[in-house]
Amino acid sequence: MFVVAHISDLHFNGTRFNRSRIESTLDYVNSCADGIDALLITGDITDEGRPSEYVEAARVLHSPLPILLTAGNHDVREPLSATLLGAETSEPINQSRMIADVLFLVVDSSVPGRNDGFLTDDTLAWMSAEIAAHPADTDVLVSFHHPPVVLHMPFMDSIRQTGEDRLAALVDKHPNIVGFLCGHAHTPAVTTFAGRPLCIAPGVSSTLNLPFEGTDVVNTGQPPGIAFHILDQGKLVTHFRSVPQ
Ligand SMILES: [Fe+2]
Ligand SMILES: [Fe+2]
Repeated sequence: MFVVAHISDLHFNGTRFNRSRIESTLDYVNSCADGIDALLITGDITDEGRPSEYVEAARVLHSPLPILLTAGNHDVREPLSATLLGAETSEPINQSRMIADVLFLVVDSSVPGRNDGFLTDDTLAWMSAEIAAHPADTDVLVSFHHPPVVLHMPFMDSIRQTGEDRLAALVDKHPNIVGFLCGHAHTPAVTTFAGRPLCIAPGVSSTLNLPFEGTDVVNTGQPPGIAFHILDQGKLVTHFRSVPQ
């Protein structure tokens, strides 16, 4: 059994409000670390991509777990990579990592200067090559920031990941992709993409309202949350937790 703690949309911005939500969420994950294999952070680590916000993130983001992360539309690749990954790059922040016997592909759906998402042809080709380089029975978890699906949240749907037919074609070639883990929508949600589970982590910094929940897009009254993904024999089960403030 393989367990991933998944958090998203931290939006470090120098405020006590966001920082305390992030700290309490991370404290909860770390308190259960003995039963968890990895911590995944699916982007929007900072609110405005400022170097000072990444310094704040580096101060707070400590865990005994291996941490996998990628960029969201609120991030800026250069300070993110320089501060959190140890080597500055302006290229998509794509990572391939074997943890236990699971292959994580954490890829960058951000597009510099834009809020919507897109996986470049190079990123898709790299993903395919990484999967092909491992035994065909290796379970593969694919992760990025922007959901490639409609969520019935009008604002989010206008800035979702597009070009998803190319990703679906890649999935068709790799039956060992077991699921997709993403963020961006600030709502715990589950659906499918290309016949696989697609799970969206709750937002740590805030929740976004559905149309019938109110006229404001952002709802900071909801607590931060975590998704725990359990992978066993190729099947993914997701549990959600709120972290009381
Ligand atoms: Fe976000
Ligand atoms: Fe986002």
